[in-house]
Amino acid sequence: MLDILPIEFKKERKGPLVIKVESIVKEFGKFRVLDGIELRVGKGEIYGLLGPNGAGKTTLINILCCQLPPTRGEASIGGFSIVDQKDRVRRIIGLVPQEVSLYKKLTVEENLRIMGSLQGLRGKELQSKIEELLEWAGLSKFSSRLAGDCSVGMRQALNIAMGLIHSPQALFLDEPTSGLDPLARKSLWELIKGLSGRGSTLVIATHNLLEAEKLCDRIGILNHGKIAMEDTPRQIRSKLTEAQATVELGEITLGELKEAVRRLNLEITSVHGKAVTIVGPEIREKIEIIIGRMPELKLINVEDYNLEDAFIKFIESEAKR
Ligand SMILES: Nc1ncnc2c1ncn2[C@@H]1O[C@H](COP(=O)(O)OP(=O)(O)OP(=O)(O)O)[C@@H](O)[C@H]1O
Ligand SMILES: [Mg+2]
Repeated sequence: MLDILPIEFKKERKGPLVIKVESIVKEFGKFRVLDGIELRVGKGEIYGLLGPNGAGKTTLINILCCQLPPTRGEASIGGFSIVDQKDRVRRIIGLVPQEVSLYKKLTVEENLRIMGSLQGLRGKELQSKIEELLEWAGLSKFSSRLAGDCSVGMRQALNIAMGLIHSPQALFLDEPTSGLDPLARKSLWELIKGLSGRGSTLVIATHNLLEAEKLCDRIGILNHGKIAMEDTPRQIRSKLTEAQATVELGEITLGELKEAVRRLNLEITSVHGKAVTIVGPEIREKIEIIIGRMPELKLINVEDYNLEDAFIKFIESEAKR
């Protein structure tokens, strides 16, 4: 019942191409995790990689960040190949890993300094970058606090700042807000959005649909090794969500309503006395047609499905294909 439209890349992508992924396959032994991934992300774009646990989000990010070789296929970042030009790629990308990896016994500032040194920054350049990032992440006041004594939200902000120390063109964030309370999450969202405003290209892996919707210009749903659906959040929402309408039968019989519902490709999900709940695509328009034909019917309400439920339904319907 869900309408899976063909994937189109160029229509929605904004800015010049930064990330280009062509037919990436990844197998662990006989187990194929990625099965021909195609992806294009433009400069300044925030691309959300959405998918259930184990879909391969981290695997794909690790491949694009040259941490893991693909079994087959090719990808380029800023025009450099992740297969043949790993060093060039590493210089222009930043990775914020799923597992926060900080030196707990070192201070916030020392963590940034070590990361900067590893990236080849020295002296004044390194110091000014550290100060800029402390300020940006709201950590200036806590620069001398041990990373191990920081709150989860502060640690995650530091984790992101460390990925940014060498001013990468493209930043990959693997579930940047997991484990954060709503307030800390919101403030990280603001930080992340600000990065794209400065022209950075961002890929964010998440299984939180709401997060992807709030943050991203485009979303790709990774499932069974492929990008099963790709579009803007608004389009994803309208493709995934159906609404439900409840009507009161009045003088109409249930049999008559069933017939009208069936003809319009809708479905009755519950009957409570005279109240009947109907679901299906384009329900708002279709329910008007039904009431036009059967004016005795009384519309009680039309409400949207929760997007999270619709997402689960989509993943489940894919599993049955
Ligand atoms: N080194 C490895 N060896 C064998 N299997 C692996 C390896 N790394 C990942 N996998 C498997 O590949 C699949 C995808 O894992 P991955 O971590 O990429 O998923 P994910 O989408 O990031 O999931 P999550 O939302 O839980 O982070 C899983 O089944 C995982 O067990
Ligand atoms: Mg993961």
